[in-house]
Amino acid sequence: MDLGISGRNALITGGSKGIGRACAEALAIEGVNIAIVARDPKSLESAAAEMSSNLKGHIVPITGNLTKGAEIERVFAEAEEALGQIDILVNNAGSAPLGRIRDITDATWQECFDLKLMGYVRCSRAVMTGMCKRKWGRIINIIGRGGHFPTAKYIAGGAINAAILNITQALAEECGPYNVLVNGVNPAATATERWNTLVKQRMKITGQTEREIREESAKNVPLGRIGLPEDIANMVTYLCSEKAGFVNGSLVDVDGGVSRAL
Ligand SMILES: NC(=O)c1ccc[n+]([C@@H]2O[C@H](COP(=O)([O-])OP(=O)(O)OC[C@H]3O[C@@H](n4cnc5c(N)ncnc54)[C@H](OP(=O)(O)O)[C@@H]3O)[C@@H](O)[C@H]2O)c1
Repeated sequence: MDLGISGRNALITGGSKGIGRACAEALAIEGVNIAIVARDPKSLESAAAEMSSNLKGHIVPITGNLTKGAEIERVFAEAEEALGQIDILVNNAGSAPLGRIRDITDATWQECFDLKLMGYVRCSRAVMTGMCKRKWGRIINIIGRGGHFPTAKYIAGGAINAAILNITQALAEECGPYNVLVNGVNPAATATERWNTLVKQRMKITGQTEREIREESAKNVPLGRIGLPEDIANMVTYLCSEKAGFVNGSLVDVDGGVSRAL
């Protein structure tokens, strides 16, 4: 199936690992040229080299810390210099720890807020005007089911994800008239480095073994397994495509059926 996005340019935050990397790979297979952004130049360079060897799209690694507004401006300037106009933005870099209100310090709240909430806001702002002028664009926010389902033990991540659910639909209203579509994707537990870190944090908090946590997490999902980065990337690729031309402001759970709410 031709998704109609070959030759488009995308920027993917947190594109060196996990869900972001899988999104880069899936979009590049469709012929999209990609800038991947992360802090660690080594993993960024090796991800770009590994992906470039067998893909149609061109992959450009750009180092940057997305908690800082000035860095974000530089990252977009570099991406545009390397690729030209950005047609697709996948907001994905985020990392909140497990923890209850008594466990999360002000500094940790601020870090999570700066990276995921303000990072998504600033990156969206950096591309919106150009996309709206050109009457074509896609902004995909990788969010998380914690935004819909508050839990005491994941309070910072849940609260920030809830704000991004809201922002996603507000931006969809703002940009829709210009054929710039804004959607959110909610993964549940997905097998990435971040998930491994969350498992370790949970072992400390609950005293459960790693095996118990992994088995329990898989058992909670009707499909009997946690997600793979590719599961999320396939949905993101569809939402970026011409085939999703009437999908705007949608918040799509890609979670094997774990989230049940009407
Ligand atoms: N995995 C899950 O179970 C799960 C579930 C629900 C939602 N999500 C959401 O999905 C998104 C991706 O998660 P993931 O599991 O794929 O994470 P991951 O495997 O830890 O990858 C995170 C990516 O973001 C980059 N990054 C982290 N901090 C950054 C910063 N300050 N500036 C720039 N880049 C930064 C990392 O590279 P560097 O460290 O080199 O910067 C890496 O490329 C997150 O928003 C997360 O909340 C994940």
